[in-house]
Amino acid sequence: MSSESSSQSLDRPTEELTLSVNGETISTTVEPRLKLSDFLRRECGQRGVRVGCEHGVCGACTVLVDGKSTKSCLTYAVQVDGAEVTTVEGLATDGELHPIQEAYHQEHALQCGFCTSGFVMATKELLDRNPDPDKGEVKEGLADNICRCTGYQNIYKAVDRAADELMEAPSDDLSDRTGGGE
Ligand code: FES
Ligand code: FES
Repeated sequence: MSSESSSQSLDRPTEELTLSVNGETISTTVEPRLKLSDFLRRECGQRGVRVGCEHGVCGACTVLVDGKSTKSCLTYAVQVDGAEVTTVEGLATDGELHPIQEAYHQEHALQCGFCTSGFVMATKELLDRNPDPDKGEVKEGLADNICRCTGYQNIYKAVDRAADELMEAPSDDLSDRTGGGE
């Protein structure tokens, strides 16, 4: 086999991809098999996207795609062409934590913290959809996320606190802190 045909055989197919990540438009070329989690971490520098199980069980990789919580380890980057993706980095504004992040901090809902960004993004979707969830709805809303430290009570308290604060906050205060999934 000639060296030319050898190098051609190693060429991989690529596809064009344009999307918004935390409000910034990105146009690039990716291999169709590139996972969204790897794309966000390696090519967009969004290291708040955690990768745990890599098969859709733990929820650590949860991001919002057009406002819907999505496991980025089960999603190919090319599947979100044209979408708005929000990671945990997209929530804080000018160094000020989003009320959900602040509530997790206040309620000591971060233990080792590995799962936290996934929980925060699942909470964001839950409270966008249901601003005043009861305990069962909170559990159901976070059911796709696992905290191996098993400190769920503080996580549930954080969601309650965030719901209260978001309902009390004037909408103008939050309009620039809602990420790209609104
Ligand atoms: S890393 Fe995606 S669900 Fe665990
Ligand atoms: S805080 Fe450690 S896994 Fe959730």
